[in-house]
Amino acid sequence: MIATVARVGLAPAGRWGSSDSEPVPSNARGAVTKGSEPLLSLRSINTFYGPVQAHFDLDLQVREGQIVSLLGGNASGKSTTMKVVLGLLKPRSGEVRFNGESILALSTPQVIRRGIGSVPEARRLFPAMTVRENLLMGAYARNDRKAVAEDLERMLELFPRVAERIEFQAGTLSGGEQQMVAMARALMGRPRLLCMDEPTMGLSPLYVDKVLELIARINRQGVSVFMVEQNASLALQIAHHGYVLQTGRIVLSGSGQDLLADARIRDAYLGGADAARTAS
Ligand SMILES: Nc1ncnc2c1ncn2[C@@H]1O[C@H](COP(=O)(O)OP(=O)(O)OP(=O)(O)O)[C@@H](O)[C@H]1O
Ligand SMILES: [Mg+2]
Repeated sequence: MIATVARVGLAPAGRWGSSDSEPVPSNARGAVTKGSEPLLSLRSINTFYGPVQAHFDLDLQVREGQIVSLLGGNASGKSTTMKVVLGLLKPRSGEVRFNGESILALSTPQVIRRGIGSVPEARRLFPAMTVRENLLMGAYARNDRKAVAEDLERMLELFPRVAERIEFQAGTLSGGEQQMVAMARALMGRPRLLCMDEPTMGLSPLYVDKVLELIARINRQGVSVFMVEQNASLALQIAHHGYVLQTGRIVLSGSGQDLLADARIRDAYLGGADAARTAS
């Protein structure tokens, strides 16, 4: 299973829907933006739920063209980080910057319009609506109807399984199929950065591989990815960079390969030596 994911590779490629948009990153590992401001950065973030502090001076960044994984156990603050990026929850202090501007004061619809797509925890599709209607909801902020229709066609090529289910009610699809619809819906907004909360959660091994392969492919087409995952061994196979969160603090960060090889990661998240053997 892991070998399949590793084969996906991380070759450079053009941007998603790049015909009329920003420059194509020449290197998916983020070399293009080296030295310049990251696409997304969180600086000294302190977040609270009432009296309970969920983030302690959180710092992280996603460079253009990268896949960045935020790893951590239950209740470590991963989903809270997503909420902060999307403007669903405002930190008490700190700064969130995207594409050269502060987005801290923006509403969630404004954040999405700036170019951040979201695949939330548990997918959150509209279950009574058809797959097609769900996909078109992802383009609600766009008024270029012709390009939306073209993007819909492109999604159906990228996700053939979704194409087969296009007129079905979204709620009748399997978990893996719903995950793909959620990804396609987010891509319909033409995001520069795709944020995904536990995209492989609850999926069968076959779909886990498929979803990770699709994330790597979307990234090769130029979309940067920020993903939250509990499954560190899988997420790090495709990640350029990873951060490990523990009770609201980043305790470790490094390249995907370095983290995979790190004994602390193996012990904490990959089940020790056995898992490390599997991952290599
Ligand atoms: N709406 C809320 N009100 C109060 N506390 C919350 C709320 N949402 C989350 N928390 C608390 O904040 C902390 C971080 O939660 P968060 O959901 O970010 O964790 P997580 O890393 O995503 O966990 P999981 O792996 O279980 O999804 C936890 O202690 C949680 O109980
Ligand atoms: Mg969570």
